Order: sequence, then structure tokens, then C-alpha cells
Amino acid sequence: MSVKILDHALIKHKLSIMREKSTSTYIFKQNLDEIAMLMAYEVSKDFPLKLKDIETPICKTTGYELDKQIVLVPILRAGIGLVDGFRTIMPNAKIGHIGMYRDEETLQPQEYYARFPKGLTESKVIIVDPMLATGGSADMAIQDILDRGAKDIMLVCLVGAPEGVKFLQDKYPELDITLAALDDHLNDHGYIVPGLGDAGDRLFGTN
Ligand code: URA
Repeated sequence: MSVKILDHALIKHKLSIMREKSTSTYIFKQNLDEIAMLMAYEVSKDFPLKLKDIETPICKTTGYELDKQIVLVPILRAGIGLVDGFRTIMPNAKIGHIGMYRDEETLQPQEYYARFPKGLTESKVIIVDPMLATGGSADMAIQDILDRGAKDIMLVCLVGAPEGVKFLQDKYPELDITLAALDDHLNDHGYIVPGLGDAGDRLFGTN
């Protein structure tokens, strides 16, 4: 398993705009789209390719195509915010959905919806969620997707807490996690500190 924290000036700049509490919903989403594109570019760098015969206007030659179907799985609802940016540069990705809400008493995730494209076993599955807090939602999503036969799963989050990262590392030693930032800790309400608040509320204007 690897935990990769992307070290990129544009990501740091844009994430700081998102963290700022006065940032509007519109600007929050715009920066999320841009960071999602940069993250999609970074995580796909080493995706497996296969050779393909192609013909340029000049001659026949050998080109490449991605060897695996990409399946993007946003964890609802905040994960939806990462889909547009990923799809901009991975337009052939199929999208699965997994719906979770956090029980505010227990802070435990509850799954209320799941729908996936066929062929998960052969696909490269990218689970996306802006916030990796306790790791509970990601755990439930990973478990569900593994149970459906997926073998190649990665998790991409904007901001992670050390508690959630450690929990997932211990439970899924093979899992690759990519973050734009690893923050300090979780507070007593389960929010990442310094974080950016409730990502879903800020994304959809429900705060
Ligand atoms: N979910 C959020 O949206 N924000 C946090 O800080 C933690 C979980």
C-alpha cells in the first residue's frame, strides 16, 4: 500500500481557497473541479497500457490505449464534487455510486444506496471522496466494492486525517491512497482540523 500526498503548488493554492470559510459555493466547486483534474492526472500516470495498431496520416505505427476500464465511484454526497474534474480528463470512465450518510450520534456511516457498472472485476476502480476523516465511509465503500469482485481499487481524497489514513492502512495493506493534503487531527465532532468544514454542505450550499 502507499499513501501519497501530492506536492503541487497549484493544488496547495487552490485547496487554501477552498479551506477559507468566506469562499462561496461557486468558487469552492470551481477549485474542487480544478484540483480533481490535477489529481486525476497524477493518479493515472502509471495506469497500465496496451499496444494498439494505429494509422497516422503518414504511416501505420503502434500506439497505446488504457488496458483497463476505469470506474469512478463517488461516495455520496460530497464525492459527487470530484466527478466532473475526473471525467474531464477520463471521459470514458464509467461511474458507480455509493450513498452514505454519517449518523451524527455514533459518527458511523450508513449505506443507503449502491449502483455499479458491470465488469468491476477487470476494472480499475477509483473511489473518490473529498474528506477522509475516520475512514468509516471509505471502509464501507471498499468492502462493498471488494464484495462485488473488484481487485484493483484506489482511494482519492482531497483532505485526510491521520486517524483515518492509519485505520485504512491497517485494514487494507494493499490499498493505494492519494491525498491533496494530510491534515492534523480529527476533532470531537469528527471534523478534520484544520480541514475545510463539511465538504457536502460547502459544495451544495446547504450550510
Ligand atoms: N466530512 C466532512 O465533510 N468534513 C470533515 O471535516 C470530516 C468529514
